[in-house]
Amino acid sequence: MRKKLVAGNWKSNGLLADARSLAQALADGSWSQAVDVAVFPPYVHLAATQAILESSPVILGAQDISPFWVGAFTGEINGAMLADLGCHYVLVGHSERRSLCGDDDDALSRKIERTLSSGLAPILCVGETLEEREGGRARDVVLGQLDSVWKRMDHAAGPQLTIAYEPVWAIGTGHSASPGEAEEVHRWIRTWLVGQMAAAGEATRILYGGSVNGGNAAELFRCQNIDGALVGGASLKIEDFLEIYRHAANSRNK
Ligand code: 13P
Repeated sequence: MRKKLVAGNWKSNGLLADARSLAQALADGSWSQAVDVAVFPPYVHLAATQAILESSPVILGAQDISPFWVGAFTGEINGAMLADLGCHYVLVGHSERRSLCGDDDDALSRKIERTLSSGLAPILCVGETLEEREGGRARDVVLGQLDSVWKRMDHAAGPQLTIAYEPVWAIGTGHSASPGEAEEVHRWIRTWLVGQMAAAGEATRILYGGSVNGGNAAELFRCQNIDGALVGGASLKIEDFLEIYRHAANSRNK
C-alpha cells in the first residue's frame, strides 16, 4: 500500500515573515496518520521553517541541491547542509530548473547521487512540454527522463526514489492535466518502475503536479497510480493547501 504525500513547493516566493506565518499555520494544522505532508521552502527560509515545524508531522524538503560536495563551490548549498537543517526530501529535475537553470542529465544524476549520499530522499520530477505532447512524444520524453537518471544511478537506491509527474504545460497555468491524462502517464511510469525494480516499483510513490487545487484534487487522487501531489501556487495559501490535503486524507490509499 502506498501512503499518499501532499507536498508544497513554495518556489521562489515570499519573504522570511511569509515563510514564518505559513509554517506557523502548518504547525497548527491537523494532519492524518494516513497521508504524509511536506513543504519545500526557499533555501534561505529553511532554518526558520524547520524551527517552527520541528515538533509537527510536516516534513521538510529542499527545492534543489548542489551537484558538488563540501568545499570551494561559491554559492552552492550542499547535501550535508540540507541534512543538517533537517531536510528529508530534495526536489531534483524540476522543469523550471531544467529549462531555466541549465540542469541537464549529467547535473541531475550528480544531484541524485549527492542527495542519496547525504541520506536524503530525492523526488525526481519529469514531464513533457505541450509541443512534445502534441507531437505524440509524451511517453518517450517522460520515460527518457527516467532512463537517463536510472542508467547513471546506483540501482540499489532505487526504492528511495519518489517520482513527480509534472507536465510542463500544466505548471502555473491553471490548466491541470485531466485525471485521465495524468493517470495514463502515471501508468507508463508505474510500468517502467516495476520493470526496473519489481515489487519496489509497485511501492514507489508517483505524485502529480501542475495546477493542483482544491477543486481538482479529489478526482486526481481517485486515480489508481496517483499517490499524492506536488503543489506550487496553491501551497502558498494555507486554506487551499489544507483543502488539497483533506482530499488526500479522504481518498483511499492504493
Ligand atoms: P503549480 O501548482 O503552481 O502549477 O506548480 C506546480 C509545480 O511546479 C510544483 O512543483
